[in-house]
Amino acid sequence: MTISASSVVIVTGASSGLGVALSLEAARRGAHVVLVARREDRLRDVAQQVADAGGQPHVIVADVSHEHDCYRVIDTTLAEHGRIDVLFNNAGRGNMARVEDTPTEQWHSMFAVNVDSIFWLTARALPSMRARNEGHIIAISSVAGRYGHPLNAAYVAAKHAVVGFIAALRTELVGTNIHATTICPAGIVTEWADATEGGSIGAMYGAAIPKSRVLAREHGLSTAPLSRMMTAKECSDIIWSAVDAGRSDDVYTHSGTKELAVLSAQDRLMQEDKFEALWIAMNQTYEEHKAST
Ligand SMILES: NC(=O)c1ccc[n+]([C@@H]2O[C@H](COP(=O)([O-])OP(=O)(O)OC[C@H]3O[C@@H](n4cnc5c(N)ncnc54)[C@H](OP(=O)(O)O)[C@@H]3O)[C@@H](O)[C@H]2O)c1
Repeated sequence: MTISASSVVIVTGASSGLGVALSLEAARRGAHVVLVARREDRLRDVAQQVADAGGQPHVIVADVSHEHDCYRVIDTTLAEHGRIDVLFNNAGRGNMARVEDTPTEQWHSMFAVNVDSIFWLTARALPSMRARNEGHIIAISSVAGRYGHPLNAAYVAAKHAVVGFIAALRTELVGTNIHATTICPAGIVTEWADATEGGSIGAMYGAAIPKSRVLAREHGLSTAPLSRMMTAKECSDIIWSAVDAGRSDDVYTHSGTKELAVLSAQDRLMQEDKFEALWIAMNQTYEEHKAST
């Protein structure tokens, strides 16, 4: 799809990280960019950057974990601009808790922000896309949507649900000019790893990775095949090339992660073996963290 000054692009989670990078690329193409998140001051700052980059910003403060806020985002956009070309379902948040320590509220909040929001926004936007027979729904899942990671089962389950939702949606869009794409990134340098509900999962990884290397050496285990952290701009560029190409599939932004997803589908135990030392180290780190708090 060609994005131009008449195009309307919605970015949820536009106040930080990947959402800022996606918004600025839409701005460079001159589009109307609808910036959605909860923190208004941050959105106003991004709106200025969007305007400076040549885009036409529109701020909507909304909590996408609420159904009525999602409908308001779509209804306001259509009332003011009459169309939606690209819907970036990017807002998301992780959690940090072992399964038996995960409060039910945290479980529900992971599903609300990471997957319910995508259903509400997408379902509300689709009729207008169908009427024009044009549009692109992008959902940011994660490699956590394709294989397991410890200490955030609620997030992992929600991101798996995103993959299934978009796969099912694609089967309903066959024969139309509306595309649906799931993005599965690995680590991106953003606020995500420290903003996790229940504590910083980034801190867990930071402590566990060096420990896991020692464990791997001592016990003859694999060193986890971690891909390098990407910048938000690098990841956004890959996502935008999927929009430009009209891709309706699953896009892996980090090298090696598609292979791990395939391995996980075909031989999950083999995939889990590769990460065994890291997961042992993560669980040890979690125990130490719990004991000290
Ligand atoms: N960073 C990574 O390593 C990584 C890897 C794989 C996938 N992802 C996914 O990539 C997406 C973007 O995350 P990021 O890395 O850019 O993280 P980030 O810097 O923490 O940004 C998250 C964005 O989501 C918004 N958000 C969170 N809860 C919201 C809510 N209830 N309503 C509206 N907006 C909400 C935040 O805005 P407010 O707080 O202002 O509302 C913020 O703009 C997420 O879906 C994340 O799960 C990230």
